[in-house]
Amino acid sequence: MKIFATRVIPPDGLELLQRAGLTVTQWTEKRGLSAAELIAHCQQYDALLLASDNHIDRAFLEQCRHLKIIALLSVGYDKVDVAAANDLRIPVTNTPGVLSAATADTAFLLMLSVARKAFFHYKRILRGDWNFSEPTANLGIDLEGKTLGIWGLGNIGHVMAKRCVSAFGMKVIYHNRGRNEAAEKELGAVRVSFEALLAQSDVLSVHTALTPETTGMFNKAVFSQMKPSAIFINTARGAIHNEGDLIAALQQGVIWGAGLDVTNPEPMQPDNPLLDMPTVAVLPHIGSATVETRNAMSVMAAKNILAAFNGTPLPNQVTSL
Ligand code: DGY
Repeated sequence: MKIFATRVIPPDGLELLQRAGLTVTQWTEKRGLSAAELIAHCQQYDALLLASDNHIDRAFLEQCRHLKIIALLSVGYDKVDVAAANDLRIPVTNTPGVLSAATADTAFLLMLSVARKAFFHYKRILRGDWNFSEPTANLGIDLEGKTLGIWGLGNIGHVMAKRCVSAFGMKVIYHNRGRNEAAEKELGAVRVSFEALLAQSDVLSVHTALTPETTGMFNKAVFSQMKPSAIFINTARGAIHNEGDLIAALQQGVIWGAGLDVTNPEPMQPDNPLLDMPTVAVLPHIGSATVETRNAMSVMAAKNILAAFNGTPLPNQVTSL
């Protein structure tokens, strides 16, 4: 059985596959595969381990319907046409849970960096502008006792809320379709309407999946309902916010700051105006990028592949086969 991996895979998962006698070929070039190249490669393999942002659309699936499994090295599966995979009976799996803490830590890092203008002050040092300190210049804001609003309180949002409660005694409100009773019990989180979430949050952190309903959800009309002192954090998917509207909201003081681990498009270009704003912190989609977490994700993906080859139930299937 032969597996094609679209990137070099963290060692723990790779070893698991190799110890089971499977052959893993990794794409080692420092450039992404085109759609045509991905199809051409996959046609020679039995399984795909997808660790890149290639889109798994119907055209790909129709030409690679022999694949026994497409194992994603991510929790998000918005890049996959799940309906087409279901139609063609190609199982797709993801890596939920194991990256919740690392991703929540990235949201927390962004929140604190924005609140204290950390990226801006770091850039001052780089340009030799650390010579005259003024007690009133370039001040940040405290987070102690402020209100954290979570849009999409699942695993990642829960860890983010936990961090914020224990570090800063923040009050937690959230908006979900259903209730998160565990977070209500553990953290005193209160479920509110979307309008109340916008109006009351001092920090609004997005942890929802990208779906047709959430695409472009944070736009001019939504930003205008937030506090002028609010910080917007997105570690979920860049397409959930409208970038032009976010830039305008920051420039016009409609909201105070933003922390982004995800942008639209990715990669963000170096001349993007967001990168020059003192109350903005941007990271290049590193939510799950720790040694421990990436290894855990690779083990999970490997276990899904092994299950597919052994004909046992797939632990983390997103398709409904
Ligand atoms: C995920 O796992 O979905 C991360 O955002 C990486 O894409």
